[in-house]
Amino acid sequence: MSTNLNLPKQDLASLSLFSNTPPLFENPLHVGRPNIGKRDALLARLSDVLDRRWLTNDGPLVRELESRCAEFIGVKHCVAVANATLGLQIAARVLEVKGKVLVPAFTFIGTVHALSWIGLEPVFCDVLAGEHTLDPEDVLRKIEPGLAAILGVHLWGRPCRVETLQKIADTHSLPLIFDAAHALGSSLNGKRVGHFGRVEVFSLHATKIINGLEGGLVTTNDDLIAEKIRLARNYGFVGVDQVASLGINAKMNEFCAAMALTNLEAYPEFQAHNTKIHDIYTEGLSDLEGILVVPQPEEGLTNLHYFVLDIAEQSPVSRDNLYAALWAENVYARRYFRPGCHRSPPYSEIGAVPDLPVTDALSARLLQLPTGQQMTEQSARDVVQLVRLCHSRGQELGARLAG
Ligand SMILES: Cc1ncc(COP(=O)(O)O)c(C=O)c1O
Repeated sequence: MSTNLNLPKQDLASLSLFSNTPPLFENPLHVGRPNIGKRDALLARLSDVLDRRWLTNDGPLVRELESRCAEFIGVKHCVAVANATLGLQIAARVLEVKGKVLVPAFTFIGTVHALSWIGLEPVFCDVLAGEHTLDPEDVLRKIEPGLAAILGVHLWGRPCRVETLQKIADTHSLPLIFDAAHALGSSLNGKRVGHFGRVEVFSLHATKIINGLEGGLVTTNDDLIAEKIRLARNYGFVGVDQVASLGINAKMNEFCAAMALTNLEAYPEFQAHNTKIHDIYTEGLSDLEGILVVPQPEEGLTNLHYFVLDIAEQSPVSRDNLYAALWAENVYARRYFRPGCHRSPPYSEIGAVPDLPVTDALSARLLQLPTGQQMTEQSARDVVQLVRLCHSRGQELGARLAG
């Protein structure tokens, strides 16, 4: 939990950006500071692992995690992996994707690196301005010979336009994969993310709502694909010394599974806490000129692990100046994703940089505020007050920073 021993800042002169006053928060607030479930339950599980001396290779906790996550999501198969990056690579491999893959440029670079690392070629698409997920019309425009798959990203835990993308994928006989790294617990029309497309891949990285230190989950309703994913995760082994197919080491270990199981048990608390923080932020920041609290989806629910502001030019305080002021107060807001992947090496160095106006605009405007267990309701109110101060004195703040 964050402690805030310092007095609220009332004017620009008291901002740590411009003075020697201590930052508002003694302990930095991070976007993605880990959530941790019941410590006793975790320690008991870890102790059992040590007693069993079964540390990895499809251990009992990995199996328990898989069955409990499959139940939580409502999907037939869930395969735990070492991280989502390997999960995406395995998904592409087992679906025999070769060549070009349509991906949004507005995503974490890891989505695209996962593909490139196994020789696939990303073809960058734009995203929808209000939703930040893959724009189906741009997908349609970019369908070309040699295209092998479509990969959508449920950014901020917000489900993509699943139905429309599925229709496009079916029409063009392309496999549809979802990077669901942010989306464990999110749902669309009452169905949890995890069984859309052919395969979905979640991240259990430390920054995610449910973490297994590091980790990932690959989910599908297809028996054959699930079997292939399991084989690929463990070098293609089908017996003690019998290999059936190409594979890699993407196994999750038992300590990671212990952490993930413990955190999964705490999901309702994490989600309820995120809801409270989200409500405080939304109530406190919705009336600011030029700043939009990015709304939740109409047809679904997210895990509320991401709180995103869209700061337009009309805002008296610019996104980057607000960012600088917040950092000086130990509020480590983030400017995800800046730049879009299409403007980042190595992709920006290969051929012409595609024109993706929505991605470019969002990269220049979005700001994520800290959420999760670290936040108290008071710390959320203090962040609100700080943002409001910077906004109300935005022009002066800008002038002082420029001078
Ligand atoms: C959208 C997205 N995709 C993929 C990844 C990669 O996940 P992992 O760290 O589990 O490999 C992340 C990680 O943060 C992510 O945010």
